[in-house]
Amino acid sequence: MAIFASGGGSNFQALIDRATQPDRPFAVVLCVTNKATAGALARAQRHDIPACVLAPQAYPDEATYVADLLDALAVHQVNFIALAGYMRKIPSAVVAAFQGRMLNIHPALLPKFGGKGMYGKHVHRAVLAAGEAESGATVHVVDEQYDTGPIVLQARVPVKPDDTPDTLAARVLEAEHRIYPEALCLFAEGRVQVDGPHIHVAPA
Ligand code: GRF
Repeated sequence: MAIFASGGGSNFQALIDRATQPDRPFAVVLCVTNKATAGALARAQRHDIPACVLAPQAYPDEATYVADLLDALAVHQVNFIALAGYMRKIPSAVVAAFQGRMLNIHPALLPKFGGKGMYGKHVHRAVLAAGEAESGATVHVVDEQYDTGPIVLQARVPVKPDDTPDTLAARVLEAEHRIYPEALCLFAEGRVQVDGPHIHVAPA
């Protein structure tokens, strides 16, 4: 699979760590980023994973960008995509090409606190402002919208009275690092069937 990341890449690392365990449930063959400064690039380099920086704004039009992106995915024989803190909307042609084979991780219990503008600290601030007793992480299939695709796995964490967006983010991130590799393993084991908005996860 390819991992798309724009930031520090702690989820990227969690996925690589799982991929390099002796049972090798899946292989990470490409890192895609839109930012030359992404921490994920250094992590990819450390693990000898090929990486490419494709910045949509550097292209004259979306079609040329999409062609380059699909080309990179084909060259590396990518058949699955994990978005891990990727801050760009995925073009619909790429979503269509990887229908049911592209996941994202979101730092809240979707369908709450998702959608355009709900990323990073904005999510945790909104959770605290709403007085929620719990938050968590969600792994979902990517569809054409923001954060609306079928949910594969969720993990819940408590919201504590003295939480700040930072302390809550750290607790949620730990849960993310646990469930993202787990969700990828479910796919690698062939236990997930995605049919449009519907999803079926076979028990172990
Ligand atoms: C995570 O909180 C993830 O849920 C969101 O972006 C953040 C990425 O963090 N989509 P990292 O770069 O994996 O550390």
